[in-house]
Amino acid sequence: LLKANNIEVLVRIVSTLDYEVDGVGYLILGQKRSGNPYNTQDLSVLEIIGNELEIAVENSLRFEEIEQFNVTLQKKIEDATRELKKNNDKLMALDEAKDEFVSMASHQLRTPLTSIKGYISMVLEGDAGKISDTQKQMLGQALFSSQRMVYLISDLLNVSRLKTGKFLIETKPVYLPTLVESELSQLLEGARVKNITMTYDKPKDFVTLNLDEMKIRQVVMNFVDNAIYYTPNGGKIVVSLKMTPKSIEFRVKDTGIGVPKDEMHKLFTKFYRADNARRARPDGTGLGLFMAKKVIIAQGGAVIVESKEDKGSTFGFSFPRNKLEIPDIKNPN
Ligand SMILES: Nc1ncnc2c1ncn2[C@@H]1O[C@H](COP(=O)(O)OP(=O)(O)O)[C@@H](O)[C@H]1O
Ligand SMILES: [Mg+2]
Repeated sequence: LLKANNIEVLVRIVSTLDYEVDGVGYLILGQKRSGNPYNTQDLSVLEIIGNELEIAVENSLRFEEIEQFNVTLQKKIEDATRELKKNNDKLMALDEAKDEFVSMASHQLRTPLTSIKGYISMVLEGDAGKISDTQKQMLGQALFSSQRMVYLISDLLNVSRLKTGKFLIETKPVYLPTLVESELSQLLEGARVKNITMTYDKPKDFVTLNLDEMKIRQVVMNFVDNAIYYTPNGGKIVVSLKMTPKSIEFRVKDTGIGVPKDEMHKLFTKFYRADNARRARPDGTGLGLFMAKKVIIAQGGAVIVESKEDKGSTFGFSFPRNKLEIPDIKNPN
């Protein structure tokens, strides 16, 4: 057969890879153009070429194998990605439904609460007849608790607004000394019940600032509410509002349980409550400080926080005057 096909040299290319035990092919040569026979030197060169060819062929086989593997891998990744995306879409839809539910529930809770507060106030003011001191005290506590609930609901609403992109800062001229005073008056009863003395030196001279009034109210209330909540009976709270040439500073200083040093950095994150706070007061949302920080930062301010476990805390905020001050209005009240 070799003779009939004019084949003079046949080099078998043997593969060392075991899936091709028979060899991967042959190098076939006919007669030399010169007509001379192949000598031993020619043959040894051809043998070397055969070996090199073997390596080349094996490499290309491996390459094909790897390529095939890549194709399969790619397909597997695509399948897994599709599956993940499907699950992710499902989770996003659930999350959205949850946000809507929280938002809807908060709204719904507000209306009856407003009515409860209204009626308690009326009875407290004597609209339903004279009430005794004890009744007054108890109703005062009920009013305080309803007010706390109003604020908790606002926190929940704001968190869901934050997620749905409906959290907007709407500024108007705000005179902080009076705002702080009115918030404190709502919380006074809570402090009184716990025998906590709360003092506030309302500044006589202050600037009017462009702020989101409702949101700042909420922040002030959250800081004071925390101070009352996390200060044991008989403690002391000092609320201060100060003006420096460049900034305004609001502080609530208490003699409460404080924050453990190694947990300080986690405050202001969503739902975070320190261990000692959980032990002292099991109920809480961990949303107040989280929202407070968002509100303060969104308006260009900074959070003030100093605390020592078992010694007390100072929470507050500062705002730069230059960007927020309304020059012509000094005191609208
Ligand atoms: N005045 C304070 N004294 C001690 N710990 C505080 C005070 N204010 C805030 N904290 C800590 O910060 C956490 C978060 O506060 P907040 O967001 O208002 O949530 P909540 O009061 O519902 O727990 C509290 O759980 C507590 O650990
Ligand atoms: Mg709180």
